[in-house]
Amino acid sequence: MEFHFKTNKSTKIIFGALPEFFNDENYAFIVDEKILELYPDLRAKLKKYPLIGFEAIEKNKNFESLNFLFNFFQKNKLNRSFNIVAIGGGVTTDYVALAASLFMRGCNLILVPTTLLAMVDASLGGKTAVHFNERKNAIGSFYPASKIFIDFGFLQTLPKNEIQNGWSEIIKTALISKNKLRDLILQKKSLEDVIKKTIQIKMDICERDIFDRGERRFLNFGHSFAHIIESYFNFNIPHGKAVAVGIRIAIFFAHRYLKINYDDEVKLLLNKLSDHEIDLSGLTIDILADLISSDKKNTNKINLVLLKGIGEPFIYSVENLEDVLFAMKNYE
Ligand SMILES: NC(=O)c1ccc[n+]([C@@H]2O[C@H](COP(=O)([O-])OP(=O)(O)OC[C@H]3O[C@@H](n4cnc5c(N)ncnc54)[C@H](O)[C@@H]3O)[C@@H](O)[C@H]2O)c1
Ligand SMILES: [Zn+2]
Repeated sequence: MEFHFKTNKSTKIIFGALPEFFNDENYAFIVDEKILELYPDLRAKLKKYPLIGFEAIEKNKNFESLNFLFNFFQKNKLNRSFNIVAIGGGVTTDYVALAASLFMRGCNLILVPTTLLAMVDASLGGKTAVHFNERKNAIGSFYPASKIFIDFGFLQTLPKNEIQNGWSEIIKTALISKNKLRDLILQKKSLEDVIKKTIQIKMDICERDIFDRGERRFLNFGHSFAHIIESYFNFNIPHGKAVAVGIRIAIFFAHRYLKINYDDEVKLLLNKLSDHEIDLSGLTIDILADLISSDKKNTNKINLVLLKGIGEPFIYSVENLEDVLFAMKNYE
C-alpha cells in the first residue's frame, strides 16, 4: 500500500507594519531584545500578550534557547490555536520557526523580519534551524510561515554593517537568477524595489522546490564555503559576512580550476559586496576535512554551487580538498 500526502501550506507576504491584533485572538510574541529596546511603542503594543525577549546572537541559536521557549509556551498555556510571532533577524526567525514547528506538533507561525538579510532570505521559504555541536543549522525542519510582514521601517535602525550583510544574500540571488534583479541593482533602483524583487525570486524558487531537492540548492551559492568559515570561527562571524567571502571564493575557484571567465556585470555585482578581510591562515587540510565531513549537504564529495555567468549556476563535485583549501586562502 502506498499513500501520498499533499502539503497544503502557503505563505502570504504583506508589505507594511504589523497590524493591531485583536484581544480575543491567541498570539505569543518572541522579539529580538534590541527591537524591544529600539521600538518602545511596539513593546507597549505587545504588552497584553505573552511576550519574551531574545538575545539575537548566533551562539544562542541552540537547544537551550528552544528549551527556554517551550517552557515559556507552557507557562503561558499556549495550545495549537496560538499564533507564534517572531520579530527579529534571521537568528530569531530561524529558531522560533523551529520551535513553532515542534510545539504541539505545529502552531501557526507569523514572521516579522527586522534585518535586511531576514527580509530577503532567512524568513522566506520555511527552513528552520538551530546549530548543534558546532555544526551549522544541524537540526531543523521545513515549516513555512503563514504570514510574513515586511516593514521597511525597521531598516532605519539597522547598522550599516548589517545592511551590508543583507546585501550578500541579495547579490547571491542576483547572480544565480536570470530574472532581472541585476538590472535593478546596477541601475541603483531603490532598496525597497530590490528587496521586493529578491523576495519574488526566492519565493518563486521555493514554490517549485520547497524541500531543497533541485533548483533551490542554487540559493546555496557561496554557502558551502560560508558554512565552513562559520564553523571554523565557531559562529563568531555574521552569516552575511561569511556569505560575502564565500561568493568571492566560489568565483575564484571556478576561474582558477574550471577556467571560467566572468563579464563586467558579474564584477560590478561583486563590487557591491563589502571587502571582508578574514584570517583563514590557520585553516589546514585536516581541519577542512573535518568541517566538510559534517556538512549535512555533502556526501563523500563536496558539492559546490558554482557559476558560469549570471543566471547560470551549476553543481560541481570536488574531491581534491587541496584545491578548496587553496581557493579559501588565496581568493581575491
Ligand atoms: N532559514 C533560512 O532560509 C536562512 C537563510 C539565510 C540566513 N539564515 C540564518 O539567518 C541568520 C542571520 O540572520 P541576520 O543577519 O538577520 O542576523 P541576526 O538575527 O543576528 O541580526 C543581526 C543583528 O541585528 C540586530 N537587529 C535586528 N533587527 C534590527 C533592527 N531593525 N535595528 C537594529 N538592529 C537590529 C540583531 O539584534 C543582531 O544584533 C543566520 O543564523 C543564518 O543561518 C537562514
Ligand atoms: Zn545565507
